[in-house]
Amino acid sequence: MRSTPRARATLAAVALVTLAATALTSARAASMLDFDVWMRAIDRHSVDVQKNIDARKPEAAIADANELARLYGLMGTYFVDDGHAADAVTMSQSGKALAAAIPTALAAQDFDGASKAALELSHACNDCHDVHKPFQ
Ligand code: HEC
Repeated sequence: MRSTPRARATLAAVALVTLAATALTSARAASMLDFDVWMRAIDRHSVDVQKNIDARKPEAAIADANELARLYGLMGTYFVDDGHAADAVTMSQSGKALAAAIPTALAAQDFDGASKAALELSHACNDCHDVHKPFQ
């Protein structure tokens, strides 16, 4: 069968749409993989920040807290882009605010305040997990 120019144009259009769909799917898959990487880092830093506050190591604790704030920021953006979970956006933002409160408290030698913020951050993990983990 000889293909007409019109048929070739249709084929090309179908190929383009398929390519675009594949690109979209893998972008989404990549960010879900990223998400697990962020979560494991959040897991580690949320424990380390408390240890470092308890051990009165403000510089290490500040580094952990800054990393937590960055990761919660990425998570918030993920949920904004996802568009399905307004509550997860809010929880990411309040987690980021708690993480950001830690260096501020430590700069004022307020170890109790830093500790409180770190504990509150850890206690909030399950508020999100109960509803959103695993991804639907
Ligand atoms: C705003 C939502 C949200 C918050 C807050 C949150 N998580 Fe998660 N977490 C998730 C979701 C969603 C998954 C499931 C990801 C999936 O299914 O791939 C997850 C998965 C995980 C995992 C498993 C990762 C893997 O390799 O499969 C760990 C560990 C984890 N979270 C730790 C934490 C800890 C610790 C905190 C708090 C300090 C926390 N998370 C806070 C949403 C959140």
